[in-house]
Amino acid sequence: MSDYQHVPVLLKEVLFYLNPKPGQNIVDATLGGGGYTEEILQIVGNKGKVLAMDLDKDALENAGKSLSKFKNLTLAHGNFARIDHIVKSHNFPAPDGVVADLGLSSYELDQGGRGMSFQKQEILDMRFDQSAETEDARWLLKNKSEKELTKIFSDYGEEKFSRQIAEKLKQLGHDLKYTTDLYQIITDALPKPVKHKANDSARRIFQALRIAVNHELENLEAFLPKAFDLLVPGGRLVVVSFQSLEDRQAKQFFNGLAKGCVCPVEFPQCVCGQTPRAKILTKKPVSASELEISRNPRGKSAKLRAIQKI
Ligand SMILES: C[S@@+](CC[C@H](N)C(=O)[O-])C[C@H]1O[C@@H](n2cnc3c(N)ncnc32)[C@H](O)[C@@H]1O
Repeated sequence: MSDYQHVPVLLKEVLFYLNPKPGQNIVDATLGGGGYTEEILQIVGNKGKVLAMDLDKDALENAGKSLSKFKNLTLAHGNFARIDHIVKSHNFPAPDGVVADLGLSSYELDQGGRGMSFQKQEILDMRFDQSAETEDARWLLKNKSEKELTKIFSDYGEEKFSRQIAEKLKQLGHDLKYTTDLYQIITDALPKPVKHKANDSARRIFQALRIAVNHELENLEAFLPKAFDLLVPGGRLVVVSFQSLEDRQAKQFFNGLAKGCVCPVEFPQCVCGQTPRAKILTKKPVSASELEISRNPRGKSAKLRAIQKI
């Protein structure tokens, strides 16, 4: 593993909304380069505890070294979709705060040899967890039908030429192995007038494949209610997302908790009797400042949402 590079996004804002205090117990559901974890550890001090998890063993290996001076840090290899099991199996107390910074780290994009970037020739793997026996991007491209690939590209990548790209892929007489092969197919499939925008299409297609390979939306759906249930009353849940589908998922989940009532809208009055379970702390999603974006372009699409359990 080369140096694990990742500049944390919205760090100041995450700390503001998570509001960790000395002696508290916090879960970082996405360790990555450990940027959030380290700051949280400093704040909770030696009377507090932090549990940080990741699917990526490189992230854990890196933090095992870079954060080794913190004796109150527990590192766990696992999927945040199973946060309840992970917290329980480490005998970690009910957390005062949980944070998830979704998607991939800069290391995974640029250095990890995962095939997540179209700008390097690498094997089309795309899994966060390369130690698992799960299907990678090559498997998906080979085994999904043209219709299924079209849906993945348009739902998760919002790519206008999804159908043409899926069609070109399925016309191939052989299996794809490298990122550069996929990039070539994308370029070939685009109509002539938009071929010069191949990098934009490639970015969307690579994102879509990564989301599908890692079941990112399914994981988030499982994570949100489990993370919320774990929190102590008054505890906070903070989610940083980088694409609209994830942000929508967090927004809808938070709105449901804040509303309480689950009666159909056409009911003239509430009959379910359910009361709000959380207070929304971010009426609108929080974005990165111009200054942060100028220093770290990754911040451009970041959106932070936070709630507090009642
Ligand atoms: C944006 S990075 C986190 C960066 C981190 N906040 C920091 O400051 O360095 C996202 C991390 O989440 C991990 N990840 C993605 N999906 C996951 C999941 N379902 N469970 C656990 N970790 C996941 C990725 O492997 C990646 O390391």
